[in-house]
Amino acid sequence: MSNATSPPTVQLLSWPQQSWTARILRGWLGGTFVYAGWQKLSDPGFLKSGTASYIGLQLSNFAKGSPIAPFLHAAGHAPVLAGVGTALSEIAIGLATLAGILPELAALLGMGLSLTLWLSATWHVRPYFLGSDSIYTIAWLAYLVSFPMVLALISKQPTTTTKERAKNKTAPTLQQSLTDRRQLLGGGVIIAISLVVGGIASALGKPPEKVTTKRASAKKASGANQPNGTVVASLADVQSQGAVGFQDANGSPAVVVSLGGGAVAAYSRVCTHAGCSVDFDPSSKQLICPCHGATYDPAHGAQVTGGPAPSPLSAIKVSIDKTTGEIYQV
Ligand code: FES
Repeated sequence: MSNATSPPTVQLLSWPQQSWTARILRGWLGGTFVYAGWQKLSDPGFLKSGTASYIGLQLSNFAKGSPIAPFLHAAGHAPVLAGVGTALSEIAIGLATLAGILPELAALLGMGLSLTLWLSATWHVRPYFLGSDSIYTIAWLAYLVSFPMVLALISKQPTTTTKERAKNKTAPTLQQSLTDRRQLLGGGVIIAISLVVGGIASALGKPPEKVTTKRASAKKASGANQPNGTVVASLADVQSQGAVGFQDANGSPAVVVSLGGGAVAAYSRVCTHAGCSVDFDPSSKQLICPCHGATYDPAHGAQVTGGPAPSPLSAIKVSIDKTTGEIYQV
């Protein structure tokens, strides 16, 4: 009776309308996508050329051997746009999923984005089930088919009409949602909130750390045979621990590894796949990336021994002061 004068309200998909399976998927997928977008935009290196996590570098690495390489190369021509677009899309999809606005469309886009990442970022992960994006693609698909409209489409059954939905108080279908003014209003609200969340994440992102001065201050001023450069570790520590981390001259994470017999080798810890920091595994004596499982052999120039990394880790030149046992980056 008061509909003519009431302001439009957004019809949300309520949580009790869904099964527990759908609720669990909705909460996890929605929350993770919001966090994934936030994490990208709050990374100070994500949009900064020359850093390990720069989106342009990631696109270039992802394209190697990917079935969607042409698409990634095209995106690489506008890396900032691609990076910001991806992050904001993740936030919007996550928020829409959690809030239940245009839920089928959000699930469809979430599945598409995860599939794109599967065909690029985690395409070379072996075995495939270790690649998180393969799991996310299937999880989104499972969530998508939890909607009656999608099931009806699959089974070619007629979907409910708007009147029936109103009578039964069921959630809107995708087609109905897209033509529903209130749902469109909700979509606009989600986009606005995503822009605000993305802006806050970017503003809170810490600037890249400066090169530590600890090493510089450790540089000795005397000693004829002392190598030129800065001290990064002591040979005794490297031998007892197997490896010691440090920051290279550019402030990026690096590691010096004991090769036995008093020999060492140093490498950048920035994984050549997508920029995560590799760690030394004492049992296998490999440098291992925790993100998608790339492994590198420090005894052989950090060559790739497994996983999706396209190239070895960057080598860093170091020299040992035989008198003091200190290791210098030269
Ligand atoms: S970032 Fe993907 S394997 Fe290292």
